[in-house]
Amino acid sequence: MLSGKTILIGITGGIAAYKICELIRMYKRQNANVRVICTPNALNFVTKLTLQNLSQNEVGIDEFNIPDYKPEHISYADEADIMLIAPTTANTIGKIANGICDNLLTSVVCAFKKPILIAPAMNCNMWQNAAVKENIAKLQKYGYEIIDPEAGFLACGTEGVGRLCSLDKIFDRTVEVLNSKKKLSGKKIVITAGGTIEDIDPVRYISNYSSGKMGIALADCAFEQGADVVLISTVHVKRNYKIVKVKSALDMQKAVNKEFETADCVIMAAAVADYRVKNISEQKMKKTSDDEISIQLVKNPDILKEISSKKTIQTVVGFCAESENLLENAKEKILKKGCDYLIANDISRSDIGFSSDYNEVTILNQKGIVKKLERSDKYSIAKEILEVIYGQERNNEDNRELCTSGIC
Ligand code: CTP
Repeated sequence: MLSGKTILIGITGGIAAYKICELIRMYKRQNANVRVICTPNALNFVTKLTLQNLSQNEVGIDEFNIPDYKPEHISYADEADIMLIAPTTANTIGKIANGICDNLLTSVVCAFKKPILIAPAMNCNMWQNAAVKENIAKLQKYGYEIIDPEAGFLACGTEGVGRLCSLDKIFDRTVEVLNSKKKLSGKKIVITAGGTIEDIDPVRYISNYSSGKMGIALADCAFEQGADVVLISTVHVKRNYKIVKVKSALDMQKAVNKEFETADCVIMAAAVADYRVKNISEQKMKKTSDDEISIQLVKNPDILKEISSKKTIQTVVGFCAESENLLENAKEKILKKGCDYLIANDISRSDIGFSSDYNEVTILNQKGIVKKLERSDKYSIAKEILEVIYGQERNNEDNRELCTSGIC
């Protein structure tokens, strides 16, 4: 199963380090070449000799042990097809999330260009710690795959989430990543983000509180899963995928239309202003003697409705921001807009939605509710949304394949 593959295992200083001895045997049984790097603390839990015997390779610990004049961290990074760090302590998670390279393992991670799987294991309170959570979110954003710890009896004597996930799960995921292409490779996904800005004059504008975080999380997640991503955003961001910076609803409409024909999926996460100023003043508007003034607004195009009416192969997804009667309004809205999915979120709550890092949403299709997603960070919500959109499509594809091979 793993012939010709080199798996690089990084072990950090946690009690679950002893379990990795068995994992090495599992990979070896499938003919993988296994290389191991330990942090100095890992050796408090497992010996170098054991790991060397099981992997049948020299175990790397010291960054400055350069026997054949090749910088160790670069040669490890070049040689392996995948890197797995298990168990990963909160300390190493923090270092990787912040680009710190103070031992061989963290330096290799920094130089590693292929997939890296991170399997954390720690006390349940540490796993819940806000800084650890933030570092995990950062790692996901940077494209690392986290294999979440499991709930159970922990070595420290408490019960909770923090135990290294099962070796079978780590093994299966390694094989999957090594043998398959990324889930969304070959898909072009266009995502809009942020609130549009409608000028009044050169110094004033109408906008909304959208931070763009949900759209950006979707774009990061789709990119991480191999999609060809185009993010059309009113918010300034720097990423390794294509970003089209726009300002007004009309700019956004133009940008979406330009990408639409070649897109497989368009996700309208932006908060598009329904109206714009009819006559934008070229000069700064002066105060007058009137106590009241009015600005005339005209309707903006409804981009979501427009693209839903002309879609062919595209999957079109909208968002629905409501401050009351969330589900009734969402059900009505998806019928009116004609999109394939609508992600409904309640913007009246301060702990989710607009500027928050968290969200809680209900996914609907034209028939009704598909899935409710509990409150979670926006990246995890994005992952679930993409799973709903593409999980179904993959099932259809699998069925089609079975049918063409006569097994339907
Ligand atoms: N949308 C759009 N063009 C607009 C307004 C909204 O494409 N001119 C999209 C948004 O990007 C979102 C969806 O439509 O995906 C729903 O936006 P929302 O603000 O919830 O609804 P509206 O259509 O603006 O209706 P209302 O403000 O009355 O709730």
